[in-house]
Amino acid sequence: MMKDNIFDVQEYAKVARQAAAEGAVLLKNDNNVLPLAPKSKVALFGRAQFNYYKSGTGSGGMVNTRYVVGISEALEGEGGYLIDQTVKKHYEEWLKDHPYEAGNGWAKEPWFQEEMPLTEELVERARQDNDTAIIIIGRTAGEDKDNVAEAGSYYLTEIEEDMLKKVCGVFERTIVLLNVGNIIDMSWVKKYNPASVIYLWQGGQEGGNGALDVLTGKVNPCGKLTDTIAKEISDYPSSANYGNPTRNLYVEDIYVGYRYFETFAKDRVLYPFGYGLSYTTFSIQSRAIYQDDLKVAVDVAVTNTGNMAGKEVVQVYCEAPQGKLGKPKRVLAGFAKSKLLSPGESQDLRIEIPLGTLSSYDDSGVTGYKSAWVLEEGSYGFYVGGNVREASLAGSITIESLKLIEQLQEALAPVTEFERMRPGKDGQLSFEKVPLRTIDPKKTREKKLPPAKEYTGDLGYKLADVESGKVSMDTFLSQLSDEDLCCIIRGEGMSSPKVTPGTAGAFGGVTESLKSFGLPVACCADGPSGIRMDCGSLAFALPIGTCLACTWNMELVEELFRYEGLELRRNKIDNLLGPGMNIHRHPLNGRNFEYFSEDPLLTGKMAVAQLQGMHKYGVTGTIKHFACNNQESNRYDVEAVVSERALREIYLKGFEIAVKEGGAYSIMTSYNPVNGLWTSSNYDLVTTILRKQWGYKGIVMTDWFAKGNDEGEEASPQNVAAMVRAQNDLYMVVLDAKKNSGNDNLAEALEKGTTSRGEFLRSAANICNYLLTTLAWRRQQGIFSQLDEQLTKSLEEDDGIIQNMIPLDVDKCATLSGDLINTQKGESTHLQVTIQEAGYYRLEITCKAMEDISELAQIPLSIFLNQNFVKTITLTGSDKIWRTEIIDFEEPVLQNTYFIKLYFGLGGMEIKDLKIVKIK
Ligand code: BGC
Repeated sequence: MMKDNIFDVQEYAKVARQAAAEGAVLLKNDNNVLPLAPKSKVALFGRAQFNYYKSGTGSGGMVNTRYVVGISEALEGEGGYLIDQTVKKHYEEWLKDHPYEAGNGWAKEPWFQEEMPLTEELVERARQDNDTAIIIIGRTAGEDKDNVAEAGSYYLTEIEEDMLKKVCGVFERTIVLLNVGNIIDMSWVKKYNPASVIYLWQGGQEGGNGALDVLTGKVNPCGKLTDTIAKEISDYPSSANYGNPTRNLYVEDIYVGYRYFETFAKDRVLYPFGYGLSYTTFSIQSRAIYQDDLKVAVDVAVTNTGNMAGKEVVQVYCEAPQGKLGKPKRVLAGFAKSKLLSPGESQDLRIEIPLGTLSSYDDSGVTGYKSAWVLEEGSYGFYVGGNVREASLAGSITIESLKLIEQLQEALAPVTEFERMRPGKDGQLSFEKVPLRTIDPKKTREKKLPPAKEYTGDLGYKLADVESGKVSMDTFLSQLSDEDLCCIIRGEGMSSPKVTPGTAGAFGGVTESLKSFGLPVACCADGPSGIRMDCGSLAFALPIGTCLACTWNMELVEELFRYEGLELRRNKIDNLLGPGMNIHRHPLNGRNFEYFSEDPLLTGKMAVAQLQGMHKYGVTGTIKHFACNNQESNRYDVEAVVSERALREIYLKGFEIAVKEGGAYSIMTSYNPVNGLWTSSNYDLVTTILRKQWGYKGIVMTDWFAKGNDEGEEASPQNVAAMVRAQNDLYMVVLDAKKNSGNDNLAEALEKGTTSRGEFLRSAANICNYLLTTLAWRRQQGIFSQLDEQLTKSLEEDDGIIQNMIPLDVDKCATLSGDLINTQKGESTHLQVTIQEAGYYRLEITCKAMEDISELAQIPLSIFLNQNFVKTITLTGSDKIWRTEIIDFEEPVLQNTYFIKLYFGLGGMEIKDLKIVKIK
């Protein structure tokens, strides 16, 4: 457990390492090839041994780390294994001509790196000298970059297959390690029959160490798949519709993942949901099922029947009666992970399942209760075991007559006709029409909310007066002018100079006027697997969401996120933009790596664990992307056409759990439209469901530069007024809230009354209530705990955190005096440059050699832009007259914040000034 609230990076690393190890899923282990014997001689194949993927790509993968331990370093280093040097040298030679290809820019990273072809001779020779072969296969994908059903992404390449064929043909002891963010095609396992296969996922900066622990048996594998691995990609029920650039029909409805396979296509599964082997064996005996009016309790005794200590995940699935609605054969109803059990040791676990969680959502009224959660009458069977396929019947309960669990109101229903899957009378796959919208949401939305109080002008009240109870929030907010109300909606970023450098967003007191009312500026940063600071500051990179979910270990994940919470607090960041919690609807979604599972219960519980960890330290996470961000291709526009039932039971369920059990108070809407309306401007989603039905009290923010629309209209990032009407409080992000640099329609809507002052005030209240919970608020109030003092001290001593950034606001041209630049040997100066007008810019540095420097001295100055090297200028000691060095930034720059680093490899330079000038 965490010691005395101290931010101890070594302890943090230990927990992350344990999580990476517990997230690893062992699919196969013939003849106990694993764990590796201590003196094993190992030949490592696959170039991924030289480039470990710590995470996927895009905003969720941009954590600058101090180190990343890959698998081979861990094996050879701490593991002390004898790694075949001849094979290694072959790779090293080959890599000279086939260097790692990073791709050029956002979403341009290749999914895989070209593999080295193996000769039979090399493999044969390796076999003579080694007893074991480890083959590593790597893949990446991520934001704005889906996987594709092609070789090199979902499928192996020919060279990779050839590597498996040759190595598995010669070695008996073969272990395949998958360093991937998503599940990939696994048909090759049968073809080449390696002895062992492990999904290691992308384990963050401690990933290699986690892998080592699993390979050596220090951690007995106990990860379980959070997705079904099917025989073929076309077997996934969403395959026919996935990837459509404009409209994605959710025909499979609630039959996502194992819900589909267990109900309709059992024989299409290679590895079932919840599957994962151990080096030991377990017996799971379920003892009893108790039922009272509110819950079912399943008592389970889990015993280690093998001869090595290990942990087991006990999973309980429910089979509800088919009733009128039709049900999946299995639905995960609860789970628990055992403690570390020694051989022969048993543990009793009680898994409690609230009755309501077994209910189904009737979106048609066929049960007599439209728009309601109901428990249909009949027998509910509970299956207990180590994965969905093997779980066996432990008992059942009977619901005598239909129970209404919660009567709600229609919301977010589809407007496009389509048919959805359901079991037919004989249990075979059949289809039915999806119930369409019957209530025009305009009727709810168009009601203009009157302000609680008329505009009063400044009465001298500050936000602190609301906290102390001196005035109500309504009275306080009635002082805000129309302009203030527009500005409070606008979050600023990326990398706002008002908050921790390099973070994604700032909101709250972003203008002088808002500040004068006592609003602090809150800071949010990506997420989800560590803190992203684009200025180059270092942070800790955690295992990806899928890996964490595969641990099925809530305590461990919570513990890890306590460290994350401390790290956020240390960096003065109030809010991590994560967890990502969209459902793994299809294996090709590039962002699956950030998300947890195909199952909503597990998804919700993982989010709860992360939130609770962070809440311990007064910071929070933003659960995202609400909702149905299930494909990256054309994510800005692709419409999710989905039934209310599938939304409630699958796509919104995890969020509901995070709100109700995890106390989430910050949510990010997604880019895409759902059933005709973009989510940021979707009143049904953001107000009716989230706030009215779930009782959510926090803030809702858009995804960065998102669009909104009014029903039937085109969407645009400028239609922020529609977002405010829906009660999406914050538009993220603009460069300058006061200047309305995003050119939004807020002021116009307020003036014309198309969005009322009351609606603006409602969001302003949400934002202010949120601000009162933040560390930014505490700091503004001068509240520093001992913990804050310790954290600040440790931050100041941390050379990985870039301190003292010099802000430079560039309105066509800006000048920085040379006095502010430390030119001593080994020193760096960091500038945070905010460009007000997009265009082509150049840097002009007027410099010379210092007087006392010898004529032949070389005086280098290296310049970096956003961490990328741009140029080195080298003066000589004879350059004693001022000269202006010009560095053209060849690419046009956008209105945004950029980071420039000046690094002085040797001292001796004097700088008169530095200018940033717009040239066109
Ligand atoms: C992503 C979000 C992220 C935001 C800020 C967007 O592109 O979709 O998940 O939090 O950028 O970086």
